[in-house]
Amino acid sequence: MRELKHLFENNRRWAAEVSDRDPDFFKKLAAQQAPPYLWIGCADSRVPANQIVGLAPGEVFVHRNVANVVSHTDFNCLSVLQYAVEVLKVRHVIVCGHYGCGGVAAALQDVPFGLIDNWLRHIKDVYEASRLDDIDTNKLCELNVAAQVRNVCHTTIVQDAWRRGQDLSVHGWIYSLEDGLLRDLDLCISSPELLASIYRMGESSAA
Ligand code: CO
Repeated sequence: MRELKHLFENNRRWAAEVSDRDPDFFKKLAAQQAPPYLWIGCADSRVPANQIVGLAPGEVFVHRNVANVVSHTDFNCLSVLQYAVEVLKVRHVIVCGHYGCGGVAAALQDVPFGLIDNWLRHIKDVYEASRLDDIDTNKLCELNVAAQVRNVCHTTIVQDAWRRGQDLSVHGWIYSLEDGLLRDLDLCISSPELLASIYRMGESSAA
């Protein structure tokens, strides 16, 4: 007997509803995807990318992990970013954190959680680099988004795109579980001039 039968039932109902509204929907989507956005968000089940910005399948490319971290040694995230920027040619990368993030809250504690502590180290580093005392979870959620926006911009992928003249903006947003609303943290970066010089790759470094 098939496990999780209700999910297959949900799926058949959903596919039928979509096809009723637009009989060619799946045929068109199977032929190509051209989303203008890459969403980098938290894996938290309460922050589903498509739903909270009202986008249909095919309209947003998505990468999610614990606490929306962009690490320059994470080939998973970098591969998603490379494909989104170089193949799909997205115009916007959105790093979206959320208040009350369990990953960020865990990073603020001094208790061991096992393997994930290696991942949460990235967020502890954000706390330490802020040189602020008494940061609560929500403030660290915001600082983490800002740090991950910069991390996206520091990648060779984004810097190469800007050097080619590709139109690409990186945004920092935060979502509230309490009311379902997004807030723009006004961190939009669209060119390397806004980055610290140590992270800027000039023309001379282009191979
Ligand atoms: Co979270």
